[in-house]
Amino acid sequence: MPLMYSQRLRNGSPLLLGAIAAVLLANTAQAQSSSEASASSSVGSGIQTSVFGHLPDGRQVDVYQLTNANGIELRVTNYGGIILSLKTPDMDGKFDDIALGFDSLEAYLSDEYRQANPYFGAIIGRYGNRIAGGQFSLDGETYSLATNDGSNHLHGGDQGFDKVLWQAEPFESDAGNGLVLRYTSEDGEEGYPGKLESEVTYTLTDNDELMVDYRAVTDKATPINLTQHSYFNLKGEGSDTILDHQLMLNAPEFTPVNDTLIPTGEIRSVEGTPFDFTQATPIGERIEQENEQLAFGGGYDHNFVLARDNAASDELVLAAKVWEPQSGRLVEITTTEPAIQFYSGNFLNGDLTGKQGQAYGHRSGFALETQHYPDSPNQEAFPSTILEPGETYRSRTVYRFSAQQDLGS
Ligand code: BGC
Repeated sequence: MPLMYSQRLRNGSPLLLGAIAAVLLANTAQAQSSSEASASSSVGSGIQTSVFGHLPDGRQVDVYQLTNANGIELRVTNYGGIILSLKTPDMDGKFDDIALGFDSLEAYLSDEYRQANPYFGAIIGRYGNRIAGGQFSLDGETYSLATNDGSNHLHGGDQGFDKVLWQAEPFESDAGNGLVLRYTSEDGEEGYPGKLESEVTYTLTDNDELMVDYRAVTDKATPINLTQHSYFNLKGEGSDTILDHQLMLNAPEFTPVNDTLIPTGEIRSVEGTPFDFTQATPIGERIEQENEQLAFGGGYDHNFVLARDNAASDELVLAAKVWEPQSGRLVEITTTEPAIQFYSGNFLNGDLTGKQGQAYGHRSGFALETQHYPDSPNQEAFPSTILEPGETYRSRTVYRFSAQQDLGS
């Protein structure tokens, strides 16, 4: 794996740089001994592997439980790379599962779930968010994609990366415990051009971070916009709404949408609007205001443009902080991506029942998806999402989990 991270993290701490180097070395070592790794059911105290279930075609699906030195526990399956649960401590050291999801594979495969399509915890690909009319042109050719969200294409189509079986390889390193997931998307899959070899690495560090690294190569030019679609409720999944969570977005602008949630092309200042989260504000404070953009989204469902200033495109920059007053839980998100989708769980309606047997009601979880802008393949003014053969797509997002009495500055 080429070492662009030292450049990306040139302002990072030596400890973090050391940790990242260790992950890269561990990845290389793992790649060399992949057959041994996949043969064992557990690679040590911090990672446990078990069978999650079987797909209708008989293929086995596994679940990987990663634990860090402080007891944070992450459960991931290689079906869709879905984060099933994430247990973190509150201010009093009490652990709760803060990620929405289910305990069984059947729940993710059910018709009920697929119709509601909330993409709980999944890896999204090839293209996170919407492509207008399910069409784009590239190098003189027009490509047609599934229109699985009204007239638009959403989150990679009918059988996006959230619904495929990834090849998984757990690893342990000084940086933490991790899981490399690999998936080859064939030329023409879901209508996209080019055979795309993609890799997503989850690393749970002892610094209470979840690092998500994305990497891909293609043999034909193709759009790509990978992201992670976890929904969190920092009070614990299955609790009531997330409206009292305080959100800070390092985003002076957002991209307004039309009534089918496709960006109009405008990049608008958040100043003086309910979209201004540059200072931490409860999510619910302005969500019911009369505002055309909030009406289109049924709440927040918008792409926020991050203040990257002069940061190199491969440098981690603060994107968001979310703090929940009752538990004191805080999540801080840094990313190499130029934008983040803030979705306030507006389409959750209580039809799906979660791990505690509690219905996931309206706005009972939020998603913050680091990304390039929606519909970029049709919007020349937006940063390009086209990956060319010979290039390597790289993206990193880090979530840091902690708990504190107040949000501070
Ligand atoms: C989108 C929402 C969508 C949700 C679940 C989010 O990324 O912005 O519009 O409903 O994913 O599919």
